[in-house]
Amino acid sequence: PVKIAVLTSGGDAQGMNAIVRAVIRTALHEGARPFAIREGWKGAVEGGDLIREMSWGDVSTILHRGGTIIGTARSDRFREREGMRAAAKNLVSLGIDRIVSIGGDGTLTGTNELKLQWSSLLAELVELGEIDQETADRHPTLRIAGVVGSIDNDLVGTDMTVGADSALHRIIDAVDAISSTAESHRRSFVIEVMGRHCGYLALMSAIAGGCDYVFVPEMPPADGWEDDMCRVLRAGRKAGRRDSIIIVAEGATDRRGERITSERVAQALEAGLGEEARVTLLGHVQRGGPPSAYDRWMPTLLGYTATLELLRSDGEPVIIGTRRNRLVRLPLMQAVEDTRAVKTYTAEGDYRRAVESRGSSYAE
Ligand code: F6P
Repeated sequence: PVKIAVLTSGGDAQGMNAIVRAVIRTALHEGARPFAIREGWKGAVEGGDLIREMSWGDVSTILHRGGTIIGTARSDRFREREGMRAAAKNLVSLGIDRIVSIGGDGTLTGTNELKLQWSSLLAELVELGEIDQETADRHPTLRIAGVVGSIDNDLVGTDMTVGADSALHRIIDAVDAISSTAESHRRSFVIEVMGRHCGYLALMSAIAGGCDYVFVPEMPPADGWEDDMCRVLRAGRKAGRRDSIIIVAEGATDRRGERITSERVAQALEAGLGEEARVTLLGHVQRGGPPSAYDRWMPTLLGYTATLELLRSDGEPVIIGTRRNRLVRLPLMQAVEDTRAVKTYTAEGDYRRAVESRGSSYAE
């Protein structure tokens, strides 16, 4: 039977377990033999116990658990030719030439790199006497399918990355909790949320939490934002609002590219309103805990579809994502390159283009 491996790499995200479970069980259902590569690409490079065949029962009772039960890591060795060769050897020796790769754009790029170099890596291994020609001939190509696991919702082409919905729920729980104490004291709170270069979590939590002001990387505020923010907050107070909440994306900057940190926002509030503001950094709480219902059923569909893709398709590298509530196949490198372009436009200050190019989720 065909052998399929699944791995999770880079930062974890709620819902990764649902993908892993779907891949293992779909493979078994289709008569294939599923393997888990543990600890991300590090597991592929080191091999041995880190690449293990999986059974139906191995993925029982994981659907509701946060994180990834097969572990994740960042591997520097995998970026080097020698590490990639070791990974190719470990995989091909077990007869594995199909991989469902779960992670962010870095993980997916690395997976594609392995695919591109696969046949030359195998040729090298034959030359070095580490595998025989017959083994190499049996696995002429590496087939890959990606599913984006990241709380940031930063991949162009798919409306939601796995984990973003759960992280948003986690943030909203915190906003609700903070707003009650803020209301009691008539205080202003600054809440910093994750998202790296992407403002999705910040913008959506600001809307869903009924917050007063938000800073996102894609739309740096014009100079004088401090005054504008204080004006908005003052107007809210005048209208009877007792709590003020400002959401700051961790990647937010001003027009000069300087970071708008939550401390900077708090200082501006104190200077402009003459009252103390409190800062809360939500940190990794956003990435932990059980996945939302969406982050269980959607990743299940994605994992199922990615596995079928590896069993039935023509071998083009794809990402399985969602668009307008439908599952879609995206050309893997195109999606990754489009995502990089958004970061470049943002860094260059071409914010309109950055937002337009995001082309998914909230930009439309
Ligand atoms: O990409 C996911 C993410 O949680 C980002 O939102 C955040 O900037 C980063 O990872 C944190 O990385 P680490 O877990 O390595 O501190």
